[in-house]
Amino acid sequence: MCLPMGETRMLASRRILLVIGGGIAAYKSLEIIRRLRERSVEIIPVLTSAGAEFVTPLSVSALAGNQVHRDLFDLTMEAEMGHIALGRSADLILVAPATANLMARMATGQADDLATTILLATCAKVVLAPAMNVRMWENPATRRNVATLKSEGIAFVGPNDGDMACGEFGPGRMAEPAEIVAAVENMFSRGPLTGKKALVTSGPTHEPIDPVRYIANRSSGMQGNAIARALKALGAEVVLVSGPVDVASPEGVRVVRVQTAREMMDAVHSALPADVAVFAAAVADWRVKNVYGGKIKKTGKGLPKIEFEENPDILATVGRMKSGRPELVIGFAAETDDIAGNAASKRLRKGCDWVVANDVSPETGIMGGTENAVTLVTENGVDTWDRMSKNEVAVRLADLVARELS
Ligand code: C5P
Repeated sequence: MCLPMGETRMLASRRILLVIGGGIAAYKSLEIIRRLRERSVEIIPVLTSAGAEFVTPLSVSALAGNQVHRDLFDLTMEAEMGHIALGRSADLILVAPATANLMARMATGQADDLATTILLATCAKVVLAPAMNVRMWENPATRRNVATLKSEGIAFVGPNDGDMACGEFGPGRMAEPAEIVAAVENMFSRGPLTGKKALVTSGPTHEPIDPVRYIANRSSGMQGNAIARALKALGAEVVLVSGPVDVASPEGVRVVRVQTAREMMDAVHSALPADVAVFAAAVADWRVKNVYGGKIKKTGKGLPKIEFEENPDILATVGRMKSGRPELVIGFAAETDDIAGNAASKRLRKGCDWVVANDVSPETGIMGGTENAVTLVTENGVDTWDRMSKNEVAVRLADLVARELS
C-alpha cells in the first residue's frame, strides 16, 4: 500500500527504495545508504546496469543489508514480490545519482528497465538527486525534462555548483549525502498541515479571440505561487492550478496548467476534495462567444464583432457546494476603492469563508510587484496587514490556515 507522505510519521523504520543510476557520483550512494541505515531506515536498493559500472552489487547489498534488485525479468523476484509491488511498498523512492538519461526516460514515461518501470508504477513520493556534466544539465532537453518532472510533483535535491569529475565547473555535481539525507528527513517531518490537502488557483486565464489573440486580466501568479509554497512548507499536499505565468513553480507541488476559465474550473473539480482551497487566480469574467477559427484580418470593412459570454465563477461554485465543499474556502479581491466594504460583500456573495483583499490601484505598484498590502475579511471582522512581501503574506496566511484547520 502506498502511504501519502502526510500519513507517514518520521524517518525511522520507513522503507526507502534507492535507485542508483550510472554516474561517477554513484560512489556517494554508498554513503547515503550508510547514513539512512544509521537512522533505522530500511533500504531497498535498485542498481541500474549503468550504475553497476560504478559500484558493485556486493558493496551495495552489504551496506544496505538487503538484496540488490537489478533485473526487470527476474523470475525469483516476480514469484516473491514483483517489480510493481516493490515500488509500491516503499514510503519514498530516492534516485541518486539521477542521470540525464534516467530523467529523460522518466519524463517521457518509459519503462525499459527495472528502475524506470518501478518509477512509472509507483505512487510513492519520488526525490531525484541529479548528477551530470554541466552542459548536460544546462541543455534545453534536460531543462524541459526537469520542468516536466517538477510539474508532476517530483522533488529535487541539488545539483550543486562545483568541480566535476570531467574537469569542468558549474551546476551538475550531485548534492552531498548529508544534504540528500537532510532533504529526505525533512520530507518525513510533520508540519501543522501534514495530512491536509490544499488547492490553490493562481495566475490569469487567457480567453481566446482567435488563434493569436486573447483577453486576460493582469496577474503575475506570484502571490498564488507563494501561497502554494507556504502551504507545502507547513506539510500540506498541494495542487496548484495555474493559468499562463512566467514565475517558477514551487517545489514539491503538483502543478496543473490551464489556459481558460473553463479549463481552470475542470481542473479545480478534478483536484477536489481538499481541506482548504485558495482562489488567488485572476480569472477573466467573460470569454469570447464567437471565437474565430482563423486569424481575424484587417479588411477595411469595419471592426470585428466580438460577442462575450460569462465565464463560470469558480470561487462561487466551490463556495456554494452542497457536498464536498472544502472546510476553508478563501477568495481574493482585487479592489481599487472601499477595499474592506467590497471584500465583505464579496465574501457573502461568493459563499467563501475568508477574502484576502488587496488594493491594486496603479500607484500601489502591487500588480506585478513583489509586495502586497492586504486586508483579511472573515466572519470575525476586518484585519488590515502592513505592506509586506508577497512571500510574507503567503506565510502569514498559511499560518492562519493551519490554525483554522487544527
Ligand atoms: O469577482 P472578482 O473577480 O473580483 O472575484 C475575485 C475572486 O473570485 C478571486 O478569488 C478569483 O480567483 C475568484 N474568481 C473565480 N472565478 C471567476 C472570477 C473570479 O474563481 N470567474
